[in-house]
Amino acid sequence: MDPLMAFLSLLALYPAGYCPNPGISVGVVRTGSRFDLGDKVRYRCSSNLVLTGSSERECQDDGVWSGTEPICRQPYSYDFPEDVAPALGTSLSHLLGATNPTQKKKENVGRKIQIQRSGHLNLYLLLDASQSVSEKDFGIFKNSAILMVDRIFSFEINVSVAIITFASRPRIVMSVLHHNSRDVMEVINSLDNIHYKDHENGTGTNTYEALNSVYIMMNNQMQRLGMNTVAWQEIRHAVILLTDGKSNMGGSPKLAVDNIKELLNIKQKRNDYLDIYAIGVGNLDVDWRELNELGSKKDGERHAFILKDAEALSQVFEHMLDVSQLTDTICGVGNMSANASAQERTPWHVTIKPKSQETCRGALISDQWVLTAAHCFRQAENHTLWRVSVGDPNAQWGKDFQIEKAVISSGFDVFAKKNQGIPEFYGDDIALVKLAKKVKMSTHARPICLPCTVGANLALRRPPGSTCQNHEHDLLNQQSIPAHFVALNGSKLNINLKTGTEWTSCINAVSQDKTTFPNLTDVREVVTDQFLCSGTGKDDNPCKGGPGELGSLQPLWQR
Ligand SMILES: *[C@@H]1O[C@H](CO)[C@@H](O)[C@H](O)[C@H]1NC(C)=O
Ligand SMILES: *[C@@H]1O[C@H](CO)[C@@H](O)[C@H](O)[C@H]1NC(C)=O
Ligand SMILES: *[C@@H]1O[C@H](CO)[C@@H](O)[C@H](O)[C@H]1NC(C)=O
Ligand SMILES: *[C@@H]1O[C@H](CO)[C@@H](O)[C@H](O)[C@H]1NC(C)=O
Ligand SMILES: *[C@@H]1O[C@H](CO)[C@@H](O)[C@H](O)[C@H]1NC(C)=O
Ligand SMILES: *[C@@H]1O[C@H](CO)[C@@H](O)[C@H](O)[C@H]1NC(C)=O
Ligand SMILES: *[C@@H]1O[C@H](CO)[C@@H](O)[C@H](O)[C@H]1NC(C)=O
Repeated sequence: MDPLMAFLSLLALYPAGYCPNPGISVGVVRTGSRFDLGDKVRYRCSSNLVLTGSSERECQDDGVWSGTEPICRQPYSYDFPEDVAPALGTSLSHLLGATNPTQKKKENVGRKIQIQRSGHLNLYLLLDASQSVSEKDFGIFKNSAILMVDRIFSFEINVSVAIITFASRPRIVMSVLHHNSRDVMEVINSLDNIHYKDHENGTGTNTYEALNSVYIMMNNQMQRLGMNTVAWQEIRHAVILLTDGKSNMGGSPKLAVDNIKELLNIKQKRNDYLDIYAIGVGNLDVDWRELNELGSKKDGERHAFILKDAEALSQVFEHMLDVSQLTDTICGVGNMSANASAQERTPWHVTIKPKSQETCRGALISDQWVLTAAHCFRQAENHTLWRVSVGDPNAQWGKDFQIEKAVISSGFDVFAKKNQGIPEFYGDDIALVKLAKKVKMSTHARPICLPCTVGANLALRRPPGSTCQNHEHDLLNQQSIPAHFVALNGSKLNINLKTGTEWTSCINAVSQDKTTFPNLTDVREVVTDQFLCSGTGKDDNPCKGGPGELGSLQPLWQR
């Protein structure tokens, strides 16, 4: 039969409703070649490769294969964050936001952790402290957990974090039942205080008991809230197991997972309420099969990874989060992914343009105000003709806004000290620009945090009622504070802001600069108390370097 005929007869055999050919990736051996409703295909790996994903998939009535595309891999190879990220594009449940009816319609858009104001997330972090995990790797687990916790709380969503370390026995460090589990500082302190040695007297790996303690915790919460209450039913649960997967006592962890599923009433329709991730991170000798076994099996998703270090995990975690629903003016939320565009990383950056050519940069500090430098407005031009370009994923150069008004600091006068031999003076170099319309918040347009505001107070995780002095102390509490300038193309110049005695020696270096200030007698005339002084990282000679390293205080802050 010629191939076309074969194809046509196949079409005749399988009318609408059958599944597409699921294909075979490198190293995978497939059995089963019928793709009709209810048909199953099975996979195994050739030679000594290990299978991740589903070893069996079934053609479902929606014309989609169940489970995840299998991959065969070397037993001890790492995932790279950039490889894992696309697998997460269709991965992860709507952990939050189930109560939002508009969300339901978009279900097929992607199943990531939706960061939005509604809903509640319980995050259970399980850290393996057994013998097969070295103390060093346990330290990496700990750091990974801290990075994830710090990030998830940065969005000010409703989340409770449980911490359980385990070896032969589990140890509950923080329970979701405790109010501290909602407090980022308490959670991070608890993580800081866990030690590998806490399990020195029982160094087996009892993954079953660890997961069972999650089950018990859930059960207690259910009793407390009431089984049929919305408060209980609408909690999403994510379990992240940091382990090498070498369970060797307590029986099959799968039993504990089954109990959890039953308790949470996980059926097809409630599949989104539970996700279990099994992640190996660090220089581990990982049992891939068990990791794969532990992770949830969801259609088109992957729940088992092995990553090189905590940084790789936080990169992956960054891709697990979807903030597109976060449309309020929460400040300081940028995308920390290495792969994010410059605008996604610093969505507050705007460009202020006179009629055509670009002049200045500014930062969104609300949905209608931009903070910038007064010297941008030196030209006696009609500002109503200027445009402010704000990041927008749909337009290459962003969306242009008209300026309603520009408020320029009355103290700014660049020529104020010309007679004192200071050709240009940049004290009070600050301006506020009010846009003619409000900016719609998105992953490409969001304000930065301005100290002494409620937003910054939340971002700094300070108690309500904290003062400006508290903020100043939090942000400028060292003599040398790492910071950076960001170029238009997104590349960064790392610098150090000098305060205290370092500030004094820093500005002394300015006074030596006879090229810029040939006639200067008192450096304080140029560098007032408003200024920060900076020198690049290893610079012995601070303040020497490219222009712009002596900047007036930019009171902005990112989470
Ligand atoms: C990173 O960006 C490149 C180019 O836009 C894209 O091809 C790639 O898939 C991205 N990787 C991830 C992990 O998103
Ligand atoms: C989230 O937490 C806030 C404050 O703790 C509370 O007022 C709000 O009702 C919570 N939202 C949900 C959906 O649980
Ligand atoms: C381990 O056992 C020893 C001896 O019984 C005891 O002193 C020590 O405190 C135990 N360590 C832990 C972490 O429980
Ligand atoms: C960061 O950007 C990546 C790639 O565009 C996206 O998949 C991810 O959801 C974003 N994460 C956050 C927290 O914005
Ligand atoms: C600036 O231009 C606008 C529009 O052309 C005009 O209405 C306004 O009067 C001008 N303002 C000044 C101060 O020239
Ligand atoms: C510095 O002083 C000299 C001599 O008084 C003068 O010629 C020169 O223009 C001054 N330079 C500046 C930058 O003011
Ligand atoms: C970005 O701009 C900076 C400063 O203008 C420049 O030094 C750097 O080479 C540029 N980087 C890229 C990747 O274009």
